Amino acid sequence: MSYEATYAAWRRDPEGWWLERAGLIDWDTPPKRAFDPKRGVYGRWFPDGVLNTCHNALDRHVAAGRGDQPALIWDSAMTGQIATFTYTQLLVRVAKVAGALAARGVKKGDRVLIYMPMVPEAVIAMLACARIGAIHSVVFGGFAAAELASRIADAKPRAILSASCGLEPGRVVPYKPLLDAAIGLSPHAPEFCLILQRPEREAELTEGRDEDWAEAEARGEPIPCVPVSALDPLYILYTSGTTGRPKGVVRDNGGHAVALANSMGMLYGVGAGDVFWAASDVGWVVGHSYIVYGPLLAGCTTIVYEGKPVGTPDAGAFWRVCSQHGVKALFTAPTAIRAIKREDPEGRLLAAYDLARFEALYLAGERCDPDTVVWAQRLLNRPVIDHWWQTETGWAITGNFRGLGLFPTKPGSGGKPSPGFDLRVLDEAGQQVPPGTIGDLVVKLPLPPSCLPTLWQNDEGFREAYLARHPGFYTTADAGMIDDEGYVWVMSRTDDIINVAGHRLSTGAMEEVLAAHPDVAECAVVGVRDSLKGQVPLGLVVLKAGVAKAEAVLEAELVAMVRDRIGPVAAFRRVRVVPRLPKTRSGKVLRATIRRIADGQDYVVPPTIDDPASLEEIKAVVAPPPG
Ligand code: COA
Ligand code: AMP
Repeated sequence: MSYEATYAAWRRDPEGWWLERAGLIDWDTPPKRAFDPKRGVYGRWFPDGVLNTCHNALDRHVAAGRGDQPALIWDSAMTGQIATFTYTQLLVRVAKVAGALAARGVKKGDRVLIYMPMVPEAVIAMLACARIGAIHSVVFGGFAAAELASRIADAKPRAILSASCGLEPGRVVPYKPLLDAAIGLSPHAPEFCLILQRPEREAELTEGRDEDWAEAEARGEPIPCVPVSALDPLYILYTSGTTGRPKGVVRDNGGHAVALANSMGMLYGVGAGDVFWAASDVGWVVGHSYIVYGPLLAGCTTIVYEGKPVGTPDAGAFWRVCSQHGVKALFTAPTAIRAIKREDPEGRLLAAYDLARFEALYLAGERCDPDTVVWAQRLLNRPVIDHWWQTETGWAITGNFRGLGLFPTKPGSGGKPSPGFDLRVLDEAGQQVPPGTIGDLVVKLPLPPSCLPTLWQNDEGFREAYLARHPGFYTTADAGMIDDEGYVWVMSRTDDIINVAGHRLSTGAMEEVLAAHPDVAECAVVGVRDSLKGQVPLGLVVLKAGVAKAEAVLEAELVAMVRDRIGPVAAFRRVRVVPRLPKTRSGKVLRATIRRIADGQDYVVPPTIDDPASLEEIKAVVAPPPG
């Protein structure tokens, strides 16, 4: 069935359409109803279904005779190791770790925090939680102790699973001291931690709290899957909001499994036995959905890659992995392709690899500039598909659907709405705008399966952040347009979120850190354009009266503070001292105008500005040099 016919079929009967897709999943009790509008904040999917996500990701493939098929290939460009786990082998390990957790009292509904580098045990940890109905919360390794602490405080995990260290080019990142510091900072402490000792840097274990992962796993009694309600949470994933406090996006078991299983065929055009690679990190939503759950639910082989697109050892690393493991579809962030393009503009390194089995490249995580799409298309001679989604949705809001026959791509557009999403563009007054007009991108409620039903223990926060602005619609906080052929163009965020190398960060959180410096009277952080990372943060600070510190010294102090409180992933490197911040008469900092100035774009002086001269002062400090 074509994209148009599929979208129309979903529109005609959304509940019937989704109930049929529920057949992609094994249920202990199959749902009789697709949707209950009376439950939850805006309704809930598959309310009477009972299932286990780990069973669907592992056990059922083994039962179907695919136990000897590779489920997971760990390719560590950092250590030069490659390890393959069949479905049977992965199931054995997951069942034992699940047994180890259960033996220590972890049960359905308990939270387990996972803070791990890109090793197979990160995936094993997630699936072990799913197996016993515990709710995992994975925290990206590039976050600092304070960020980890705020997630521990909010999720209140019973256990934490971590590793002694992560590996970044040129350095070993000791995770254990960060974990210890975070537990020290948090008002909540876990009952126990399992620590995976990596040979690159072993950690000292804290007596009475920490246990060696390998020993615990070895002693773990394998246990079967615990059936859970489709509505029970599978995980919480914290993502940046507009303040320093991260938002706990909740994902349920039933809707998630159905939507992800459906997306593997419909969007990515892969199925059982195919090799699918999402070159992301398990700490991000892309890693949750498309390193772990999506490919395993569909019976694919997934790749866990510990390395970078460049420098490990060169810009041919992605092509090496695709060729060596027979990858059919690759999903990565535009930044990774820009990094490869910068190092190997002619694509010479590709010639060494046989990409016969490679069919398509998928990009998401940030807006992709058309040049990068066109460059990749020419180099690979395969479809390059930009698709738009968010942590909140868990899968693509828009895309191009290989399982339905591709439609022509338009570089710079994220494609057309996924069946399941009724996407609209509204103006400030909530009126739908004509095609080609930029406005708020919103989704008419209800959101489809896999999208967040709420924020962790915070229905009110969910309503306020996502549903209040346009009643009856979910606000994506992205601005964009839908053209007259139905293609969606996502242009920018409407809030203070920036995307740095595909990593979602809050400028508000960085401002909170800068404001805590004793010399800073006022500050603003904006995301400015960067040819590699898409955007990078720029800090503007106004000093307290009487402070006469050199800008370079202050910059070094503030950069260290952000690295220490938020983490290296913020890539916060630039600070400028300004005499004052441009503001409206009501005192609101004109961040959007500052950003345009820093990007060297045209701007209009807002009529509400308090003093137009303040913009000239900013321009003198941050405008890029001409040419
Ligand atoms: N643990 C600890 N530190 C981490 C980390 C982790 N898991 N991930 C990143 N960092 C650190 C890096 O070491 C770097 O530290 P530094 O400031 O000391 O150099 C910092 O965080 C920024 O990292 P990164 O964003 O990876 O930038 P980079 O300059 O090291 O590399 C690219 C540039 C383009 C190679 C890299 O950004 C990249 O691979 N991007 C793809 C993004 C991606 O996959 N996003 C996922 C969303 S789909
Ligand atoms: P995250 O929650 O980290 O996945 O970040 C989601 C945000 O990244 C979105 O709200 C967009 O601002 C941006 N984004 C993700 N994918 C795309 C895309 N394909 N095109 C434009 N922006 C994107």
